[in-house]
Amino acid sequence: MSAPLTILGLESSCDDTAAAVVRGTPKNAHVISNIVIGQTDAHAAFGGVVPEIAARAHAEKIDLAVKQALSQANTSLANIDAIAVTAGPGLIGGVLSAVMCAKGLSLATGTPLIGINHLAGHALTPQLTDGIAFPYLMLLVSGGHCQFLLVEGPDAYTRLGGTIDDAPGEAFDKTARILGLAQPGGPAVETEAKSGDPKSFALPRPLLNRDDCNMSFSGLKTAILRARDQVIADHGGLPRALRADLCASFQAAITDVLIAKSRRALAEARKINPNVQALAVAGGVAANSAIRTGLQSLCAETETDFSAPPLALCTDNAAMIAFAGLHRAHTGQFDDMTLSARPRWPLDQTSPTLLGSGKKGAKA
Ligand code: KG4
Ligand code: ZN
Repeated sequence: MSAPLTILGLESSCDDTAAAVVRGTPKNAHVISNIVIGQTDAHAAFGGVVPEIAARAHAEKIDLAVKQALSQANTSLANIDAIAVTAGPGLIGGVLSAVMCAKGLSLATGTPLIGINHLAGHALTPQLTDGIAFPYLMLLVSGGHCQFLLVEGPDAYTRLGGTIDDAPGEAFDKTARILGLAQPGGPAVETEAKSGDPKSFALPRPLLNRDDCNMSFSGLKTAILRARDQVIADHGGLPRALRADLCASFQAAITDVLIAKSRRALAEARKINPNVQALAVAGGVAANSAIRTGLQSLCAETETDFSAPPLALCTDNAAMIAFAGLHRAHTGQFDDMTLSARPRWPLDQTSPTLLGSGKKGAKA
């Protein structure tokens, strides 16, 4: 059995500056510390992440995040076996902040450096939290990502499909803005939806009739805009009850698409690898209880295990980067000072580039 290693992880690809320490082996690892410094306030006035503001905030805070992660883990750089850093994909100015920091620490201490694909971090998280075995199907759903990945090993990913335009979290956020609700839109829309009727507005379920695992969410936001304008024209305003109905109908449409496409992706994944036993979900949208419940029922019906990591490890964090680094360190895969930051870096190099970029920047 391989010896446990202690990995420091760094992450700055979007709007969270994060550092974490993870210790163990790929089969049995523990999060020792997990620091996330958010930037929500810095971007609040702009209705989305502003790349230049994000990059500046990362550069200002990454040292602090590392310091806090080491201190929370009650350790120092001298006890770190390798430094893993997100090298892409993401907003390039942000990715550069952590990459430069990691290179500086590596050079100064002689600690090995490992560049990690951010999406691999998300995709491997269910192993860290639930110990689920390869192969499994991963559904990544956040404000910046939306894709199905067949995960067969730490370096073996097949993308089965994804959004061709907006990510679901982005659709939730835009819908909240259209309906005058707070940001982030996901939780606000979910709360409103609780008192609404999901059947009250007939919203589209895009690409459902297409025989593949791709999705589209941008038409849904246009449909919500039209439905809202119609309500305002009919009622001279947006009554609270109808706003709740719009939220419930929107959430039902997104849920239907995600569940139907997950069903398809499971079948596709099992065609490629019949041993797929589990469906794992990651990303902020995985917090939505209607979507979670839908995925759970799909799993029960198809005799598939379901894994949803706790929210702190579902959303962007550096523990997932450290854990992906642990896999690489155990097989002796290190980088040197030529490691570069990459705005685009598909996990599955063979599948065609996704068209959508998402409000949080091009991901893959
Ligand atoms: O993973 P995440 O924290 O950041 C990235 O996008 O990388 O995801 C944030 C997204 C936001 O768009 C937010 O509105 C959405 O996740 N979200 C939700 C819920 N909580 C957060 N969407 C639907 N329902 C929720 N309860
Ligand atoms: Zn992410």
